Amino acid sequence: MNILVIHGPNLHLLGKRQPELYGAETLEQLNARIKKHAAGLGMKVRIFQSNCEGTIINLLSVQADWADALVINPAAYTHYSYAIRDAIAALGLPAAEVHLSDISKREPFRKISVIKPVCLAQFKGEGYASYLKALDYFSAKKK
Ligand code: DQA
Repeated sequence: MNILVIHGPNLHLLGKRQPELYGAETLEQLNARIKKHAAGLGMKVRIFQSNCEGTIINLLSVQADWADALVINPAAYTHYSYAIRDAIAALGLPAAEVHLSDISKREPFRKISVIKPVCLAQFKGEGYASYLKALDYFSAKKK
């Protein structure tokens, strides 16, 4: 199974960025965990990070033929990007939304996800484990 993993804006700053919310690990360390877990499940992963909405949309479009499923942390775009939502819906890619923090327990604007309705599942508030649970979800779904 081929899994496309996309990290949205400011996630390149992991490790330095509000560690009390997002943990002390860098994006590189997070990606290493994702790759290791995916390999254990017999999955192939391609991982990207972008700070730009259009780049994320282009990535979705370009990688859609390769990917069997999408694991996306849209970061702040979660709360307002109808364009990313439309791209996921248009491509029909089975998707899981992930968040390091628990967006349901933070500022009111973070409680809204415009991406959630086009995803099969949402994993939040478990740090890096949110990503690993999304991989487990697709692995179990395949069987
Ligand atoms: C986040 C939560 C978002 O609200 C925030 O804008 C992020 C990270 C998370 O992983 O907890 O950048 O998606």
